[in-house]
Amino acid sequence: MEIKKEDFIERDIISVDSLSVDEVKSVLDLAKDIEMNSDVFSNVLNGKMMAPLFFENSTRTSSSFQAAMLQLGGKVLDFDADRSSLKKGETLRDTLKTIQGYRPDVVVIRHNKDGSAKFAADVLKPCVINAGDGQNQHPTQTLLDLYTIKEIRKEIDGVKIILAGDLKYGRTVHSLALALAKYPDCHLYLVSPESLKMPQVFLNLLSKAGCSFSEHDLEEFENIISEADILYMTRVQRERFPEGLEGEQAYGDVTKKYCLKLDMLKKAKPELKIMHPLPKVNEIQDEIDDTEFAYYFKQAENGLYIRKALLVLLIGGRKNE
Ligand code: NCD
Repeated sequence: MEIKKEDFIERDIISVDSLSVDEVKSVLDLAKDIEMNSDVFSNVLNGKMMAPLFFENSTRTSSSFQAAMLQLGGKVLDFDADRSSLKKGETLRDTLKTIQGYRPDVVVIRHNKDGSAKFAADVLKPCVINAGDGQNQHPTQTLLDLYTIKEIRKEIDGVKIILAGDLKYGRTVHSLALALAKYPDCHLYLVSPESLKMPQVFLNLLSKAGCSFSEHDLEEFENIISEADILYMTRVQRERFPEGLEGEQAYGDVTKKYCLKLDMLKKAKPELKIMHPLPKVNEIQDEIDDTEFAYYFKQAENGLYIRKALLVLLIGGRKNE
């Protein structure tokens, strides 16, 4: 099925569930076109403005959205949550309504509350892209993850993928698991410490979608690594642990046991690739960066192409003929 750009115009991108497999394919195809032919797209967002509202820290998502907008000929509003009047107690709603008055074409929002992107989309007229809402979802990361999986193995169907680490608080794995559930013959190995297992609500959605998955302790890692095409590592989300001594201790307990070392990959397929949304902290031994397994820096680069594709689809512009 061919997707027309009009199908995307002024849509909000809040969760991966709202995108069909065909729609995902259009984003991925356009992203590949942009990766190969960046010059052709250099002016397509002339006169358009993006408001990046990042209320949580970000390196890759915020920089790649900004680079994408600038390289497409658009402009970026300079908004810094730390210097904003939120620090004086202004509400998110008032902040959003104020920014809307300055006429952005698209608002990209990251916030520590689950549901905040949906809230913003309900308040705002311009289209809203969820750049991560609390521990809920991170749909644009998922699009770049799918793009990367396709780049690695030519297709997404049938991928055997280990999702490892913080499956409780990690929004990237929540979105990615739901997205993969729509592709046939995949298997998800969910590997985590007992305290950081994938929440039941997401497991129910996977079951409902007929997705094949299995849950494993960290200790079982070496038994399943030989079956995987992709190992998707995640960071333990320290900022989402309860505050205080109890949280500190729980964080210390899990991170002690969770670190990927080269010798743990002895039984891996030679073509295995390791992905990670980044930032990585201590969960991957440094020497793995220099092996053929490591794919996370190319994965991060792919964020640029995916975010360009999304911006082009959502806020228009035609290829320079
Ligand atoms: C992730 C996030 O913010 O959820 N980072 C990212 O966007 N690449 C993962 C993380 O912070 O661990």
